[in-house]
Amino acid sequence: MTAHIAHTTHKFISIQEAIGNAKKQKKVAVRGWVYRERGSNVLKFIVLRDSSNIIQCVLEKKNFEKQWNDIDKIKIESSVEIYGEIKEDKRAPTGYEITVDKINIIQIAEDFPINKDLNEELLGDRRHLWLRSRKMTASMKIRSTVLFALHEYMHKKGFTEIHAPSLSGATSEGGSDTFEVKYFDKKAYLIQSWQFYAENFINAVEKAYAIAPSFRAEKSKTPWHVTEFWHFEVEGAWMNLEDDMVIAEECISYVIKKVLEENKLELEILEADIPKLEKIKTPFKRITYKEAIETLIKKGHKIKYGDDFKSAEERGLAKYYEDKFVFVTNYPLSLLKFYHGEDPKNPGTGTNFNLLAPDIGEMVDGSQREPDLNKIVERLKKAGMDLGASDWYLDSRRYGSVPHAGFGLGIERFAAWICGFDTIKDSIPFPRTPTRLNP
Ligand code: 4AD
Ligand code: MG
Repeated sequence: MTAHIAHTTHKFISIQEAIGNAKKQKKVAVRGWVYRERGSNVLKFIVLRDSSNIIQCVLEKKNFEKQWNDIDKIKIESSVEIYGEIKEDKRAPTGYEITVDKINIIQIAEDFPINKDLNEELLGDRRHLWLRSRKMTASMKIRSTVLFALHEYMHKKGFTEIHAPSLSGATSEGGSDTFEVKYFDKKAYLIQSWQFYAENFINAVEKAYAIAPSFRAEKSKTPWHVTEFWHFEVEGAWMNLEDDMVIAEECISYVIKKVLEENKLELEILEADIPKLEKIKTPFKRITYKEAIETLIKKGHKIKYGDDFKSAEERGLAKYYEDKFVFVTNYPLSLLKFYHGEDPKNPGTGTNFNLLAPDIGEMVDGSQREPDLNKIVERLKKAGMDLGASDWYLDSRRYGSVPHAGFGLGIERFAAWICGFDTIKDSIPFPRTPTRLNP
């Protein structure tokens, strides 16, 4: 077969489709970017990449005499269209090879400034290019499934998606880790959480949720913190703590099932722990803060009742409880914010939970809220806090206050846990950290 044979009747298909149908459809047209290449004076091997997969393509010089000069110049990340015949080849990276009979070179790339020797800092500088890696592509596809499945689950359950502004004239949740921005001649703050708005929305829509960025001016440089993260937050009127935990565990297991169904290839590319995902079943284990402290002490941690967990302790707890998700409830009020309710059955402790994940630690934070205005005002006073320009928040308690609960889940922590990453920076396209604002 020679290079001048026209293939205009071919429709481009994805590489994954070409591999999947290889037994039935031998003639294929695929297009994408050059992932790897090597050549000799008689052959050129191109591993072609598209969003779905990679495939080895081989070109014989004798079929491309006129074009060989250009073919010889093809480098990594050049864009090409390829027509040829696909066949099984055990030696090829994905088990198949295309014998090329026509190639359209769309653009010959300059020297691609990414290679396996770059350190984290340089990969960060070139993040927009690093996103082309198979790892990041697989990660972004899984992230997309996570987001879509959460929307799907919440809609099925009758929740209304409703957004808060990202810019606000006042801080919420205590001001220390809030970003301040210039807003004409005033100061504005980037929102840390949707919750204050949500506790008011629910007196209208009853069941509300949002997936939106939250901002935290935290200097902490752990693998589990970024300064801008995507926050899945839920709030429901008439919901109690148990209802809140049920929504959290059900949507988490719903998402995991979806990822297992839709992202098998991506999980394989990432060498993710598929049995770990398959063993996630509801209901998740529930323990109290007091039990958690007792377990930690038994396991040799130096901790006492009243102390906050450090991240190693949170990760340890999930490990000790069968290496699965575990809800820890009833933290001492001294560790909680003014809006968490107090448990009448265990005075001095909150109707709150943290959901801990193995390897990550805190993944979800939620509570049944304190509905009583006077109690909240008292708690604020005790904490030496004044809501100032956020006082409108308390209108939710002034005009028809109802029992209600909600939670917040960090999308990147969840997606990174699914993928088995050791940092959430691999689960967001452009991570923002104290030292990274570009690209
Ligand atoms: O625990 P947080 O701060 O809770 C709240 O913001 C509540 N107002 C949520 C609510 O009840 N509506 O944050 C909730 C979750 C954490 O459990 C964690 O998964 C994630 O958000 N998170 C972060 N993720 C990445 N980087 C950071 N700096 C994060 N801070 C919190
Ligand atoms: Mg928290």
